[in-house]
Amino acid sequence: FPLDVIRNFSIIAHIDHGKSTLADRLLELTGTIKKKETGKNEQVLDKLKVERERGITVKAQTASMVHSSNGKSHLLNLIDTPGHVDFAWEVSRSLAACQGALLLVDASQGVQAQSISVFHIAKERGLTIIPVLNKIDLPAAQPERIAAQMQSTFGINPADILSISAKTGKGVESVLQAVIDRIPAPQSDKNAPAKAFLFDSLYDRYRGVISLVNIQNGILRKGDKIASCHTRKKYEIAEIGIMYPEEVSTDILCPGQVGYIACNMKESSEAHIGDTLHRVGEPVPPMPGFKPSKAMVYAGIFPVDSSDFPKLEESIKRLTLTDRSTLHMDVFRQRLEDEYDANIIITAPTVPYKVLYRDGTEKFISNPTEFPDMSDSTTKVSEIQEPIVKASIIVPEEYFGDMMELCYSRRAEELDHRYLDAGSDASSSRIILTCVIPLSEIVTDFFDQLKSRSSGFASFDYEDAGYQKSDLAKMVFLLNGKPVDALALIVHRSAQDTIGRAWVKKLHKVIPRQLFEVPIQAAIGKKVIARETLSANRADVTAGLYGGHYERKLKHLENQKEGKKRLKRIGTVDLPQEAFFDILKR
Ligand code: GTP
Repeated sequence: FPLDVIRNFSIIAHIDHGKSTLADRLLELTGTIKKKETGKNEQVLDKLKVERERGITVKAQTASMVHSSNGKSHLLNLIDTPGHVDFAWEVSRSLAACQGALLLVDASQGVQAQSISVFHIAKERGLTIIPVLNKIDLPAAQPERIAAQMQSTFGINPADILSISAKTGKGVESVLQAVIDRIPAPQSDKNAPAKAFLFDSLYDRYRGVISLVNIQNGILRKGDKIASCHTRKKYEIAEIGIMYPEEVSTDILCPGQVGYIACNMKESSEAHIGDTLHRVGEPVPPMPGFKPSKAMVYAGIFPVDSSDFPKLEESIKRLTLTDRSTLHMDVFRQRLEDEYDANIIITAPTVPYKVLYRDGTEKFISNPTEFPDMSDSTTKVSEIQEPIVKASIIVPEEYFGDMMELCYSRRAEELDHRYLDAGSDASSSRIILTCVIPLSEIVTDFFDQLKSRSSGFASFDYEDAGYQKSDLAKMVFLLNGKPVDALALIVHRSAQDTIGRAWVKKLHKVIPRQLFEVPIQAAIGKKVIARETLSANRADVTAGLYGGHYERKLKHLENQKEGKKRLKRIGTVDLPQEAFFDILKR
């Protein structure tokens, strides 16, 4: 395929607006996949879903298609972008392999938070955007109104919008034609040193990591020795080809093409999204703007039964080895919990804090136990900063007050809002609310709160906004005067009393009474913030049994002895492991 007939594009959309459905229709229409009989399609999707849930394969929908227009065959490469709100950076990376994008908007739901964020990412990358209104078959569809919304939000000319139903197939042909007519061909130099842009990866049990690449310059062949610009590691291409829609070996990839490379990479972590591959001995400048993905959320994981440790370690290794998307905490938690029947405890997530020292050095910490004691007058720390994000929330007007309240309770700043539908009747207007909010405030239940307080109508997106000075402190909990390291927390000063009191109350509830009185305290530095006292109790497990039941008495005493083995001794207080986990779980 000469360059001028190649088109590289993505479908960008808010979740559920029909990205996968449209991709399927495009693949069917071009004969890349067989059109399934009604009903069968569902099954195929279902199968994928089961696989996804079991963590066996997570299919990226990157595929090549051939389509004829004006008697000329075109090679259309559809490049998948991750659908989750937390993968904004990866969306930006996948879009770097494209010249155009289909901006898909649900004609009944209208523009949502992610529609806006992905639009801006595509715009910044200079992509040609083809606006598409989907689901026009729905009775609730309001194509004209949503088109006006797209005009006011994105400056899109309503005349450029394609109206389709990905479900029925109506108008989908026009999408293919627009891809050919409106999106420019990639610009590549076939004589320049080979340069492949790595935008995604898959894991195959037999072949290891499969990198999805876009050939920016030159040609790559089977057997070529290649190297990564980022890791400097070297590989030999064992297999190379296109996704049609599964891997089809072609032994060669030419300029402008999109395809896969299998080169004996063992771990998914070797395939850095955004990395550039080149032939050994023919270095090329890497694609600009590459940054290795950085973990922004941390959590502790414990097996309830400590003898499960090796098994847990093994599973974690396997999950991170095979699947990049497990880098996402929710997916990861779900997978592990499925595998362990909730016999693991994942602690509340924390974020990486930045500690600045007087001598100009800095350090990132993610474990509360490493947090410096700011009340110490000899401290070498000058400032502590926390990661912040710029959040946008789109919500029907009637829920606006609740959203403001939620944002304020999470220390949001710079609140700003405007109407999304310019000049429309107020009764059904939606508002876009933007603010800067600490990352730590959204990593736990923010999204759930947002959904429940808006009856599911709010949509949310956020982007990294760097670090900001913050008044934080380490809160420790003391049982009988002894600190419990595993319970330490990093809290914002404004919330310290509330959090301290709530946790102390909870501890009081879950810790069984001991043979002596136990003070439970929350403290910051040397200052006690909250206190409860657990009164003494002499547990007599045989108290309820009267004479004669000798064997039963013995049995109870035996059980008690067994139970004691499972107690976790903290200070001088015996804490059953279950209670301990209960607290950690929050
Ligand atoms: P994620 O994979 O979660 O990002 O969703 P998606 O954007 O890929 O959406 P998907 O294709 O899974 O579609 C979401 C839902 O909308 C599914 O139930 C589809 O059957 C339905 N859907 C997609 N396109 C249409 C359409 O044109 N009309 C109607 N009525 N339903 C559609």
